[in-house]
Amino acid sequence: MRIDIITCLPNLFEGPLTQSIVKRSMDKGLVELEIHNLRDYATGKHQHVDDYAFGGGAGMVLMIEPIDKCISQLKEKRKYDEVIYLTPDGETYNQSIANSLSLKENFIFLCGHYKGVDQRVRDHLVTKEISIGDYVLSGGELAAMILADSLIRLVPGVLNDETSALSDSFQDNLLAPPVYTRPAEYKGWKIPEILKSGHEAKIEAWRNEQAFKRTEKRRPDLLQ
Ligand code: 6GU
Repeated sequence: MRIDIITCLPNLFEGPLTQSIVKRSMDKGLVELEIHNLRDYATGKHQHVDDYAFGGGAGMVLMIEPIDKCISQLKEKRKYDEVIYLTPDGETYNQSIANSLSLKENFIFLCGHYKGVDQRVRDHLVTKEISIGDYVLSGGELAAMILADSLIRLVPGVLNDETSALSDSFQDNLLAPPVYTRPAEYKGWKIPEILKSGHEAKIEAWRNEQAFKRTEKRRPDLLQ
């Protein structure tokens, strides 16, 4: 999987995507991730990437030219399956979208800022628009990181235990069951006896039941 991220704030990406699972996936050669500073594609004598909205109001809008230049240069090097614009008015992201996107190979993520991008970017260059939930962030960068993280962990070979992505919450529309580790008793708080029984089938049945109960209580909407 390859992800190219276009942003005005490239420094924001230094933390989360250079550690842990994401870092390991890149070290293993399973994932390539590159951050592109939109300012490097600025044109005109002022070298700016945003401008006032036609018709007034609305604040600053990201211009089409630097975005088009950046995307065109990327497209010269490879074919992209999706150009995804991160925006609060996009389709609300969930695990089922993550699963289907994870089967694709090459992505461009475009991070919006200020009052968004020129509509012609969305009409002509973007193939998908995604929001990570019904609240507003200052920019698409945090959303892009969330998207990248959730897709990268689904790439075969990225997780050590391949089954662990399958037992995540939301896979099969159930929340994950409770888990416990040593000690079996702490301050008088005990773990469920069944987990020490060594009876695999019964433990599996208990986990399914717990997952169902938890989902029924916390997220009944998932069971519809
Ligand atoms: Cl993708 N961008 C911004 N700016 N805010 C959001 C979002 C995206 N998703 C939810 N809120």
